[in-house]
Amino acid sequence: MDQEHAAPHHERILIVDFGSQVTQLIARRLREDGIYCEIHPYTKVDHAFVQDYGPKGIILSGGPNSVTSADRPNVQGLLHFGTPVLGICYGQQVMVAELGGDVEVSGEREFGRADVSAKASSALFDGVWEEGSAYQVWMSHGDRVVSLPEGFTTIGVSENAPYAAIADESRHFYGVQFHPEVVHTLDGAKLLSNFTRKICGLSGDWTMAAFREEMIGKIRAQVGDGKVICGLSGGVDSSVAAVLLHEAIGDQLTCVFVDTGLMRHNEGREVVDLFRGNYNIPLIHVEAEDLFLGELEGVSDPEKKRKIIGRLFVEIFEKEAKKVEGARFLAQGTLYPDVIESVSATGGPSVTIKSHHNVGGLPERMGLDLVEPLRELFKDEVRALGREIGLPDVFVSRHPFPGPGLAIRLPGEITKESADLLRKADKIYLDAIREEGLYDEIWQAFSVLLPVRTVGVMGDARTYDRVLALRAVTSTDGMTADTYPFTHDFLSRVSTKIINNCQGIGRVVYDITSKPPGTIEWE
Ligand code: XMP
Repeated sequence: MDQEHAAPHHERILIVDFGSQVTQLIARRLREDGIYCEIHPYTKVDHAFVQDYGPKGIILSGGPNSVTSADRPNVQGLLHFGTPVLGICYGQQVMVAELGGDVEVSGEREFGRADVSAKASSALFDGVWEEGSAYQVWMSHGDRVVSLPEGFTTIGVSENAPYAAIADESRHFYGVQFHPEVVHTLDGAKLLSNFTRKICGLSGDWTMAAFREEMIGKIRAQVGDGKVICGLSGGVDSSVAAVLLHEAIGDQLTCVFVDTGLMRHNEGREVVDLFRGNYNIPLIHVEAEDLFLGELEGVSDPEKKRKIIGRLFVEIFEKEAKKVEGARFLAQGTLYPDVIESVSATGGPSVTIKSHHNVGGLPERMGLDLVEPLRELFKDEVRALGREIGLPDVFVSRHPFPGPGLAIRLPGEITKESADLLRKADKIYLDAIREEGLYDEIWQAFSVLLPVRTVGVMGDARTYDRVLALRAVTSTDGMTADTYPFTHDFLSRVSTKIINNCQGIGRVVYDITSKPPGTIEWE
């Protein structure tokens, strides 16, 4: 993360990433506890970096490498700042090796749940784990520590890890072989809180109210008296970014909302009512349904649909943005997971920055600088910020919606009639979910109108109508997903209501495929 985007006056923790699959969870657990932290790859974290960053504590993540290999990722002198350090898994092993202890490849690997017995009292366990008792943790390791550096004692053991938890209380160095950041380590969050609050002495001043104040100051400092354009999609990220910007710079902000005609029922209206009506934010509303549906006519390949929509969007956005005289900045709702520089599984540094398809290439072409007020936040923090700034709940807790919209929920060719029919059925489904109080338990729920006709009987007549598939999944990040377990009663009520009210739909099915092997969307 660029230092200009960091939050310098927060007390903060530095998380050094050695490439574990779960490094982000360390940051999640800390931030949930009011602790500001950032993740940086080990390749970048040298002496000068740490001095500049000024952490109150350092956490070394796990990673796929073996400390026993000659070219192991190292800690490059991080242990000599007098700052408390917590090493997790690989982080523990590399700390031990660096300080003069030994690590070996273990014959008995440990994966999954294990029990750790607390062997001594420690600041790390304070008020959480008692000496002599055993506690459930989550392990994932092949190597293990076999002898400790001077000054360290063993504070926890497991069946296959005689040094499951170690400490040098005088230097404030701690190491755990298990992963406290994973929820299966039942007391993991409390142990991390002991490290950050009791050992590093942080007070937990990371609140959304503080962030709001601070970000408003930063936006003003970056933008000065320049004009900013912000694309609205109706989703939570762009909505929160826009309201925050408006609070910071008032009418220097102009929002552009391109209605593709592929949004859900009434969504376009809601965006206009909220931003123009309620917040009085200058808003360019482009009603482009005819253009989008015209260019999509006869196209059934999903990738072609995506390309057409992406291209048109950028063309329209650029044309409208040019009308805002003197615009110098483009605001985007980029989130923290999009900007974390991650370490690849092979240990080499790799940068995973998602391209934001909506405005791809636009800032460079138009010579605009980016304003990204949410780039320090995780999705649920954006939702918390949305609530803090008073955005209505219907925006704040809205399920994710793909950029190409309903186009990818209408397999095959798209027509205005089919989009309208899908919108109508989807509204019945989502209203039923809301009425049942299930909306917030579900990551994403939507309907897909299939280009398949099946036979039915309604009244005395034979029908030959389309099939609607319902989908609802739980997920934490959209990378994996489980089917939501609706009751049969709920599903049959929804099915009946849709068929009774949506002429043209003759059959309703429920998709029970998890991801993997399925994806969340059908196209
Ligand atoms: P899949 O279908 O890949 O979706 O399991 C994972 C998440 O990404 C969303 N999604 C998209 N979002 N443009 C987007 O902006 C797209 O083309 C797109 N395709 C899928 C999907 O809704 C889910 O939240």
